[in-house]
Amino acid sequence: MTSLVCIDGELMEPAAARVPVFDRGFLYGDSVYEVVRTYLGVPFHLDRHLERLERSAAALELALPPRATLVAWLKSALRAAGNPESYARLIVTRGSGPITLDPTTADRPRTVLLVKALEPYPAWMYAQGIKVSVPAIRRNPRAALDPSVKSGNYLNNVLALGQARRAGFDDALLLDIRGRVTEGSSSNVFAVRGGSLLTPPLETGLLHGVTRALVLELAGQVGLQAHERELEVADLARADELWLTSTLREVLPVVRLDEATIGAGAPGPRYRAMAERLHAHALDWARAAAADFWREP
Ligand SMILES: Cc1ncc(COP(=O)(O)O)c(C=O)c1O
Repeated sequence: MTSLVCIDGELMEPAAARVPVFDRGFLYGDSVYEVVRTYLGVPFHLDRHLERLERSAAALELALPPRATLVAWLKSALRAAGNPESYARLIVTRGSGPITLDPTTADRPRTVLLVKALEPYPAWMYAQGIKVSVPAIRRNPRAALDPSVKSGNYLNNVLALGQARRAGFDDALLLDIRGRVTEGSSSNVFAVRGGSLLTPPLETGLLHGVTRALVLELAGQVGLQAHERELEVADLARADELWLTSTLREVLPVVRLDEATIGAGAPGPRYRAMAERLHAHALDWARAAAADFWREP
């Protein structure tokens, strides 16, 4: 299993990878990023991730290298690492400069690509379901730092996860400042009630998850009616099933929310149906996309 780093197009071993301490990503979290994973060696829905990266960068007025350049660097890193399935993290910082908040003083964007073998979440989490807590810390309001921007500034999610882990839970669910459910610390959230699949609307202030969008698209195929709806903790606590979704998790069942047991306290049948459907979609997608992705430009 090989890990590789690519900085502005130059491939290197992780131990040799260096970013200047004056980089604004390090100093201020002044950066954007994406995490993609491969199926059958092909980065899953890469276009959707790159579109989100472009939206995040535009919101921060941060210039990105051209999309074709990012894809070429990603391909060469994946090829060189040669893992059966890969995790790739694509980070673009505003670059280096003097120590001042002023973003106009940055030199030029710096792109760092981290590629390693994909490490799936532990099997027990899917077999037994996980325990999630709602810590005191809240998600940023959209008017402060819009959570739809996937930036290097993840401190409130970091603190939320820390609070949850110290209290003995596996993950954290964040509310907005009005107490409405937003999302997990690095995932989106879904509740099943009867034949309905519920998730908070984007307007609540949350990351527009690629997996979230796919689960909404696939809901009908597993007999669920999808609704984007404002939710409170009590709505989740009385759900039949609760799931977290993300690129790396796919669909992960939640069986406890603080003191509340969700449904029967075990992963439910709707979870299994959606997890299978999503996985099958990913493999079909990868088979169809492989030739196009690897074709030389
Ligand atoms: C805050 C947050 N919400 C949701 C997600 C899930 O997004 P995706 O399905 O695109 O991985 C992530 C992924 O990292 C995240 O960091």
